[in-house]
Amino acid sequence: MLRIRDLEVKYGDFQALWGVSLEVHEGEVVCLLGPNGAGKSTLISAVSGLIKPHKGRIEFRGEPIDGLPTHEIVTRGLSQVMEQRRLFPYLSVEKNLVLGSFQKPARARRAESLEWVFELFPILRERRNQLAYSLSGGEQQMAAIARGLMSRPKFLMVDEPFLGLAPLVVQTILNIIQRINGEGVTVLFIEQNVQLALGASHRGYLLESGHLVAGGAAKELLESEMVRKVYLGI
Ligand SMILES: Nc1ncnc2c1ncn2[C@@H]1O[C@H](COP(=O)(O)OP(=O)(O)OP(=O)(O)O)[C@@H](O)[C@H]1O
Ligand SMILES: [Mg+2]
Repeated sequence: MLRIRDLEVKYGDFQALWGVSLEVHEGEVVCLLGPNGAGKSTLISAVSGLIKPHKGRIEFRGEPIDGLPTHEIVTRGLSQVMEQRRLFPYLSVEKNLVLGSFQKPARARRAESLEWVFELFPILRERRNQLAYSLSGGEQQMAAIARGLMSRPKFLMVDEPFLGLAPLVVQTILNIIQRINGEGVTVLFIEQNVQLALGASHRGYLLESGHLVAGGAAKELLESEMVRKVYLGI
């Protein structure tokens, strides 16, 4: 579904990604692992068209998307939930959600999509008229994911969905990821906790200082000597 070949991204003189190639197949949940500054957010922002690659190729559903504007990429079925949630603090939860469905095909399904995300996250239905800033961290993350889903993506990329959340909320969001995946949404998410991420994924990739250093089935990665030594300390 997503194929990235030899991707390089530069910020001025600083090169953040070096020849990164990876694939995500339809129906998968894949995690992108790596320490702070590894280039994880850079990678998914390049896929979304928010950052222009210096080199490389990005294909979505068999067609090149590098160079396309973000709204065009969203229309093709790819949606990104950014780091830090990025809600509009002084708009209601419902208005924030509706903003996720402004592209044409999604707009026609707005009411149905709202119903879908309220069913996925019942707490958001309760909070629909509340201003976004007044939500708890967990509720904000749920609202950010729900907004991403309002565009009815076939492919959802989520940047650190579990950051700073209590275990119970982490579990709620994990369940949602499994559920939407079961409903046909392919998922790529970023996470630094190796065990948590691989436990929730079919496959994973490990990025370090802009280089892809490992990739494979979640179970194999968890058992690999390198991951065990460096990331799990065992
Ligand atoms: N707009 C920018 N201008 C210059 N350098 C940047 C910019 N954005 C990111 N970088 C640098 O690129 C590298 C990769 O950043 P990126 O945000 O992709 O990492 P990350 O893996 O998502 O890290 P984190 O886990 O902290 O979110 C870092 O060294 C960062 O300082
Ligand atoms: Mg990041």
